[in-house]
Amino acid sequence: MADTELMDKLVSLAKRRGYVFQSSEIYGGTGSVWDYGPLGVELKRNVKEAWWRAMVHMRDDIEGLDAAILMHPRVWEASGHVENFTDPLVECRNCHRRFRVDTLLSETGAADLEHTQCPSCGKTGEWTEPREFNLMFKTFMGPAEDTASVIYLRPETAQGIYVNFLNVQQSARQKIPFGIAQIGKAFRNEITPGNFTFRTREFEQMEMQFFVKPGSDGEWFERWREERWKWHLETIGLAADRLRYHPHEKLAHYASAAGDVEFFFGGTIGDEGWGEIEGIHNRTDFDLGRHQEYSGKKLQYVDPQANEKYLPYIIETSAGADRVTLAVLANAYREEEVEGEVRTVLGIKPSLAPLKAGVFPLVKKDGMPDRATQIHEDLRARGIPSFYDESGAIGRRYRRQDEAGTPFCLTIDGETMSDGTVTVRERDTMQQTRISQDEIVRYLQERI
Ligand code: GAP
Repeated sequence: MADTELMDKLVSLAKRRGYVFQSSEIYGGTGSVWDYGPLGVELKRNVKEAWWRAMVHMRDDIEGLDAAILMHPRVWEASGHVENFTDPLVECRNCHRRFRVDTLLSETGAADLEHTQCPSCGKTGEWTEPREFNLMFKTFMGPAEDTASVIYLRPETAQGIYVNFLNVQQSARQKIPFGIAQIGKAFRNEITPGNFTFRTREFEQMEMQFFVKPGSDGEWFERWREERWKWHLETIGLAADRLRYHPHEKLAHYASAAGDVEFFFGGTIGDEGWGEIEGIHNRTDFDLGRHQEYSGKKLQYVDPQANEKYLPYIIETSAGADRVTLAVLANAYREEEVEGEVRTVLGIKPSLAPLKAGVFPLVKKDGMPDRATQIHEDLRARGIPSFYDESGAIGRRYRRQDEAGTPFCLTIDGETMSDGTVTVRERDTMQQTRISQDEIVRYLQERI
């Protein structure tokens, strides 16, 4: 399968199996906004839970937070987003479509706008002067729709952490170095969105800000870079040859060092198919310094042992929950030929798979549906998401679960009724083994 085909195949499988639907589809869709269906919501929750477990539950030096999306408008002046979070935009005078200047030039390969053809109507050089366009969504707080009541939907979750730095540090009695983690929605009025859920206008971030003593920031940057690499590789199970680390040469206004973990999606995503799934940044004391200045409140850390006060430096790890989820799907998708037919499989790591088991009575008689229902109920009660299916030939039921990414299927047949054993069929190898009904839970728990 060509790289360029993968995204189309994923969009279609995602809809067919209930992973992702276009938002407001019956109204023709909302541009670059997507809804997660029954399987998609489970997969994304599993990705977020794997992150929360690694970043918060397994560590003593990171605390969780859930800050509000709506923040004081001065936050975005202090952060630099009002001034700097912009893209240069031009409009075609002929068809009035708008484009980002950098994307337009890189996609058409033209040296300047004068020689650039409009991708929409084909006119050359009919562009307005470039204008800076701010990517933050604006809305109004309260009944008056005037400039005094403008607030923004947050374009990153990070600022909610910075403004709560001392609240968390003091209430949790943390000492530097320590971090604050949160998962939440962010909004950007992207001008050239697209590529399915890769670049959307509403998305979820999994961000962690680690506060360190100035001077130790270089070492912590390296440590977090390694930690996060390991998470994508080992916990999420992305293939090593589809991951790379890309250091930034051009730095954002807040950073002194930065790099991205990139995944190979193929097609038109990012740099020849390589797209960013997480950024790791050394944000220095820029953010706390600016919030201290704009709020007039001291944000210094007081070190009780050394008896010194300072503004910590921040190492940020910022991953997109939607992009990691898309990477899991792209990494897992494969087609293979089995007995002259194409078998489509989502080889998602069992720990992340939305459903862990399919439970099938071989036929709808001889007590098999009752026994299968009992097994299905038992699995659910033990926190193992399972799916009961009694319709169609057994081979078709296996194929449906292969496409859904379910790692194990359990078939209840005549032998089950006589000796209490069931067939376990494994998604990736298609191998079948018989185990006792009493062993099912342990068997699955060991493998997920
Ligand atoms: N606080 C730093 C920050 O927001 P970023 O590189 O702009 O940094 C971090 O974003 C991550 O958020 C990206 O690596 C990506 O996974 C995700 N992300 C950013 N913009 C996105 C968009 N429009 N759609 C989906 N995910 C996005």
